[in-house]
Amino acid sequence: MSPFLLTRTLPEGATAADLRADVLHGLTRTPKELPPKWFYDARGSELFEEITRLPEYYPTRTERDILVARAPEIAAATRALTLVELGSGSSEKTRHLLRALRPRLADYVPVDVSESALTGAAAALTEELPGLRVHALVADFTRGLALPGTPGPRLVAFLGGTLGNLLPGERAGFLRSVRSLLEPGDALLLGTDLVKDEATLVAAYDDAAGVTAEFNKNVLAVLARELGADVDAGDFDHVAVWDREREWVEMRLRARRGLTVTIPELDLTVPFAAGEELRTEVSAKFRQEGVAAELAAAGMELSRWWTDERGWFALSLATVV
Ligand code: AVJ
Repeated sequence: MSPFLLTRTLPEGATAADLRADVLHGLTRTPKELPPKWFYDARGSELFEEITRLPEYYPTRTERDILVARAPEIAAATRALTLVELGSGSSEKTRHLLRALRPRLADYVPVDVSESALTGAAAALTEELPGLRVHALVADFTRGLALPGTPGPRLVAFLGGTLGNLLPGERAGFLRSVRSLLEPGDALLLGTDLVKDEATLVAAYDDAAGVTAEFNKNVLAVLARELGADVDAGDFDHVAVWDREREWVEMRLRARRGLTVTIPELDLTVPFAAGEELRTEVSAKFRQEGVAAELAAAGMELSRWWTDERGWFALSLATVV
């Protein structure tokens, strides 16, 4: 049996308090918005896993292919003894990286807000990689991080294109906080989805089977369960649009008619006009120059850039300057 440790850095009830604050802020402003992290309850995480297998949703399989092809180079370039993964989820793609980093790698530190995802992933990994120490961290990586004292050099991985779910200002703060975790010799492995033709992008967020629509509407089920909101998913349409100026895909929920959502737990009544939209996610798409500039602004240097043949997705390796 490999050692498995789990640390909760989220205080009990922190998630509930954050949700209340985000809903109160996001549903009383114009235009309405909610942060995408609230999609991911057990059902939402399941729906996201389903999305990753859709024909239209290319990012996951494209990133996996790049990772598989480049894992030996990543291992050689970083010589990491510790792999920290932010937003590790099911750790499905990471196993390729872990295998390449072994036998040198001693510690794997998966960080996620979902404790169930962490324990599930750890069980599979400790079986597959005997002797690897897994120190799982239940934490919200957008809130500043304290890592366990594991040996360096460290490789911090942030995959899946999740950086794109942060707004530009949040991205800058987040990359700064990642930089603060790194010491000379450490590295960041970053996955970013790239700008491409609009039809491909929109299809990836509005699939024919309607799984993404269901994923988007799942946030309403979270509001109903956690805050007692009397909201009916059938009153909203799923919308995915490409914003060509800001180079991001937005997901929204559009009210099919005028309606009112009451949220007893917050003493809140939220009116929606017919056709009014609630923004539930931004998924930014990147270019190499932009990634390099954002890394540089945070005190890191883009040292390697790997893409697939079509140039649809990129893995970046960044080092400390
Ligand atoms: C993997 C979290 C980055 O923005 O593409 C998938 C989430 N949203 N379909 C993304 C998502 C709609 C996804 N992230």
